[in-house]
Amino acid sequence: MSRPGEAARAAALTLLDEVLGRGRMLDEAALPRDLSPPDRARALHLAALVLRRLGQIDAILAGFLSRLPPARVRMILRLMTAELLADGVPAHAAVSAAVALAGREAATRRLKGLVNAVGRRVAAEGPALWAAQDAPALALPGPFAARLVRAWGEEAARGIARAMLAGAPLDLTVRDPAEAPALAARLGAELLPTGSLRLARPGQVSALPGFAEGAFWVQDAAAALPVRMLGARLDGLSVLDLCAAPGSKTMQLAAAGARVTALDVSAVRMARLAENLARTGLAARTVVADALEWAPPEPFDVVVLDAPCSASGTLRRHPDILHRRATLDVAPLAALQDRLLDRAWEWLRPGGRLLFVTCSLFPQEGEIRARAFVSRHGDAEPVAPPPLAGVAPDWLAGGVLRLRPDLWADRGGMDGFFAALMRRRA
Ligand SMILES: C[S@@+](CC[C@H](N)C(=O)[O-])C[C@H]1O[C@@H](n2cnc3c(N)ncnc32)[C@H](O)[C@@H]1O
Repeated sequence: MSRPGEAARAAALTLLDEVLGRGRMLDEAALPRDLSPPDRARALHLAALVLRRLGQIDAILAGFLSRLPPARVRMILRLMTAELLADGVPAHAAVSAAVALAGREAATRRLKGLVNAVGRRVAAEGPALWAAQDAPALALPGPFAARLVRAWGEEAARGIARAMLAGAPLDLTVRDPAEAPALAARLGAELLPTGSLRLARPGQVSALPGFAEGAFWVQDAAAALPVRMLGARLDGLSVLDLCAAPGSKTMQLAAAGARVTALDVSAVRMARLAENLARTGLAARTVVADALEWAPPEPFDVVVLDAPCSASGTLRRHPDILHRRATLDVAPLAALQDRLLDRAWEWLRPGGRLLFVTCSLFPQEGEIRARAFVSRHGDAEPVAPPPLAGVAPDWLAGGVLRLRPDLWADRGGMDGFFAALMRRRA
């Protein structure tokens, strides 16, 4: 008979192998179908914990290993160390579970003794070593940290590491801003200065009061700000939301009164957008198409391009992003962003506005793209948006919004976002 938690631990190892071994995203889809919902949740929690604390975990293990063990054993040791030092699992349970995991496979069975010996040392000596670590200095893989330091400096990079270690609360955008204070009281949420609601301990989102009636949708407080650069009300404006799924910006645009066309290449993600619209009672025309091939019948007043990017700004929620080599390979994404920007520009009426958005921390997918765009298009001019509630002056300058996870450190941080607003001269 298998021991309690064994299925979840084995599944966590599979997830870690997908991310660290194969460079894939941390995705529930990789879990065995017959895994129970609690085991799925536990497996995802454990895998994310290892990825979030990997630098610290490997530093601890390095002190107890004279050479690197085979990859599978190393992963078992990492999982055990996370449980022991970051998850409060009692020593005997975490160590014996790791030994049992090693015993499951022929390739790792002969190293059960090593797992046991390292486990005992981590359990005995690990807590003091862990407490003495400079966690932010160990949190980000070297090349990722170096890129952040180049872009934003040492202090900001350290703040971003701290935000990643802390994880993210749950933020909600309220369909009708006038209802935000009452809804905050109903949910026990903090009403943020920008108008989003923040829940420190959310539980199941679909069980929250107001969810079924579509009073809100999940959207990070930073992610909610770019669309606000267009103004509080967009009544009657025709807006193309390019790269729209799963639709949080589509819903913001529709709730502000715009006539929205939402386009995305992914039919699966567009199905989620349609569900979101149905739940919130908001309307948009939906198109499943590749923006590099599609063309609209007539120009729009506004195009929002929330372009595919490294998603490095979402590292608090998705620590797998830190450990995938693809995250740093921004050149192909930057080239795609340029192509999408150039196409979107052609679909604007003269005088129309383009809002370019990415959830990236890298200027190559933000500031540099926007500057290159303006130098390619003589008829493009940056537009200064109206002042935005809760937005500090140094976050928004010259039509450009730059948000980073180290901002609002005392309130629980925010995702990293870039947005630039440009007008097509008439
Ligand atoms: C950052 S996400 C969009 C998030 C969305 N705007 C929101 O706020 O909920 C980027 C989206 O771009 C879509 N995408 C990527 N390449 C595309 C293309 N060539 N044409 C259309 N959509 C594309 C992806 O399917 C993905 O849904």
